[in-house]
Amino acid sequence: MNAAIRAVVRTSNYRGLEVFGIMRGYSGMIEDDIYQMSSRSVANIIQRGGTILKTARSKDFYSEDGRKKAYANLVKRGIDGLVVIGGDGSFTGAYKLSKEFGIPCIGLPGTIDKDLYGTDFTIGFDTAANTAVQAIDKIRDTAESHDRLFVVEVMGRHAGYIALHSGIATGAENILMPEVNTTLDEMVASLSEQEKRKKLVNLVIVAEGYMPDPSQPHLKGAAETTRLIEERLKGLEIRVTILGHIQRGGPPSCMDRFIASRMGYHAVECLIEGRHNVMVGILHNNMHYTPLEIAIREKQKISEDWMNIVKILAS
Ligand code: F6P
Repeated sequence: MNAAIRAVVRTSNYRGLEVFGIMRGYSGMIEDDIYQMSSRSVANIIQRGGTILKTARSKDFYSEDGRKKAYANLVKRGIDGLVVIGGDGSFTGAYKLSKEFGIPCIGLPGTIDKDLYGTDFTIGFDTAANTAVQAIDKIRDTAESHDRLFVVEVMGRHAGYIALHSGIATGAENILMPEVNTTLDEMVASLSEQEKRKKLVNLVIVAEGYMPDPSQPHLKGAAETTRLIEERLKGLEIRVTILGHIQRGGPPSCMDRFIASRMGYHAVECLIEGRHNVMVGILHNNMHYTPLEIAIREKQKISEDWMNIVKILAS
């Protein structure tokens, strides 16, 4: 996100616009935690994870009163355009502001989950997926030496993209995602089959939102999946690793810095050109602009083709 902030600030300055940073998203907008930024305010941040503007979930912004307060603070400072970096929650807020007060808003896709519609890339996904791959490669060494089955949980409460990409990239046998209904029976059958074929390494990658038993939706992720597998395949030695928030931080990858810089630059160009209330994405290596209401409503889908690749390459 820092690379995107830097690009927005520097492009604005280049174009002769004044630019302000709003701390902690909509919370800072309501509390008037807003400061003027210059090119120097964004020096030495492109290599840093997280966001210098910080982030928060604002309950007050859900109410019309909260949004009125926020808008009044924008008016006070003469702010007449907004760039919002985030996912569908942030875009919903931006869409409401644009509808209620007519302020032009631009969304930049910032989520490690990569589930936003209208873009091949979201800021943070590549870094998170690479972190997962590095960690899984290390786990593979133990899996191989000890002939153990490892079940690794990656982030993704509602989306399986980190699981899908890191799973394919590390040669996982099974990838379990919230969007794909892989049943326990299928899992058990596939593991028994692998056992028969004497596979040297068995890795299962699970997104945290995967439900092993949809009739019990409170059971989610690697620990519960493993427990249910162990109940059925007695004697199988399974280890569970939950990667957690290490996927959310650290120096961003080259790809993330590159796309964030591109998107940040185009966000400012959109405001200047009057292309308002869109999410700036990249599709087939071209800039792509999706109306915010569509970006909020639609989801990127896991393709059948990818699932097929997973199956064939693990054989
Ligand atoms: O939305 C991104 C995401 O990283 C999810 O994949 C994950 O489930 C969630 O955020 C974690 O959020 P928190 O840090 O609030 O637990």
